[in-house]
Amino acid sequence: MSAGTGTFSIDGKTIDLAVREGTIGPSVVDIAPLYKNAGMFTYDPGFTSTASCESKITYIDGDEGVLLYRGYPIEQLAEHGDFLETCYLLLYGELPTASQKADFDYRVTRHTMVHEQMTRFFQGFRRDAHPMAILVASVGALSAFYHDSTDISDPQQRMIASMRMIAKVPTLAAMAYKYSIGQPFMYPKNNLDYTSNFLHMCFGVPCEEYVPNPVLARAMDRIFILHADHEQNASTSTVRLAGSSGANPFACIAAGVACLWGPAHGGANEAALKMLEEIGTPDRIPEFIARAKDKNDPFRLMGFGHRVYKNYDPRAKIMQRTTHEVLNELGIKDDPLLDVAMELERIALHDEYFIEKKLYPNIDFYSGITLKAMGFPTSMFTVLFALARTVGWIAQWKEMIEDPSQKIGRPRQLYTGAPQRDYTPIAQRS
Ligand code: CMC
Repeated sequence: MSAGTGTFSIDGKTIDLAVREGTIGPSVVDIAPLYKNAGMFTYDPGFTSTASCESKITYIDGDEGVLLYRGYPIEQLAEHGDFLETCYLLLYGELPTASQKADFDYRVTRHTMVHEQMTRFFQGFRRDAHPMAILVASVGALSAFYHDSTDISDPQQRMIASMRMIAKVPTLAAMAYKYSIGQPFMYPKNNLDYTSNFLHMCFGVPCEEYVPNPVLARAMDRIFILHADHEQNASTSTVRLAGSSGANPFACIAAGVACLWGPAHGGANEAALKMLEEIGTPDRIPEFIARAKDKNDPFRLMGFGHRVYKNYDPRAKIMQRTTHEVLNELGIKDDPLLDVAMELERIALHDEYFIEKKLYPNIDFYSGITLKAMGFPTSMFTVLFALARTVGWIAQWKEMIEDPSQKIGRPRQLYTGAPQRDYTPIAQRS
């Protein structure tokens, strides 16, 4: 939607730039013609003021702490829906009818097994390999196993690749875990729902029947819903950029997994738990708060702060409730890590530094405690995030591929290196 024109003046030249309005949220100035008309680029490292694309999938109001998938508040989806319903919503734009949902669940369930030869691919990894290293490689390797769904110009192949990834990433994630602990891989079970099946592949063993705990399965499912998409974050932008070159969908999602691994992004849940363990007891909190505020100390409170949320992350609130539910179900009355987390949150929310910089707990602050209580080692936390985010990456990739105005992403730069100079033969260099 056009919302008029903005005028940009520089060096006596005036350039009209269209202002475009979204359904909600800030308008954008369309600077695409700027270089052609003014011979200048804009400069915005970290994209703090730059919209990289138009999207209809997810909306965040960081000041108000609002997160909507296709218009639906995250709180309502997490309370009333299930993860596969959220997947359908993100992919197709509407909540499914009962028959659409049954058909979607059936199709995902029928794609959960991976090519048997992939098990040999896993044998090449060291036992102590980080499961994220295995996930990056094995998701990328799907393109070597499923040649029949890598043609991105074919909508049918795009759909099959999407279903395959939503269905197979949990299998690969569980295999990465089983491999690290030296247990046999568990085949998926099609009579279980998506999340119970994932728990079965992680915690079941072939010698006995695994019965998923419904409270834990529901909590895990909700955690997947909370992580399913988050508009144009670093990993999603990575997927879009990789996809803009025409790379196959498996390769693009592998690029997203790689980007998610960093501690400033998906790796923060692992880092947050390690931090809580390092703090150990509430009396040591002031020391860590002081370090987080010290400009000369690189330490940051992990699980705190967000590029977009300048208010309480709505996912963190649901996550906190889920943590209590899980600990309660498991009969964990006193968790020292939860005590440290709650006290740390209380102190930070009353501290001038955190108030002034609008630093609130994000989703990763409580997720580590929950996942640890459920039996996952810290190295699996980011893997679980990647599993859930796969659908968001796919929905965003699909939206981009289906956009007729899509072109290869190619940012420009402000060059500050040496100007042109002549080559000096090595003998003449001092
Ligand atoms: N602890 C202490 N100070 C902080 C923190 C923190 N966690 N986060 C930001 N700050 C300070 C920072 O030092 C800076 O101060 P100053 O203006 O004096 O230089 C100011 O707040 C703004 O920080 P920034 O790094 O410019 O903000 P950003 O938008 O680039 O970074 C962030 C966002 C998430 C990378 C950052 O808040 C951070 O590193 N948090 C810890 C890691 C974390 O929890 N990440 C998970 C994000 S949520 C899950 C996901 O979406 O991946």
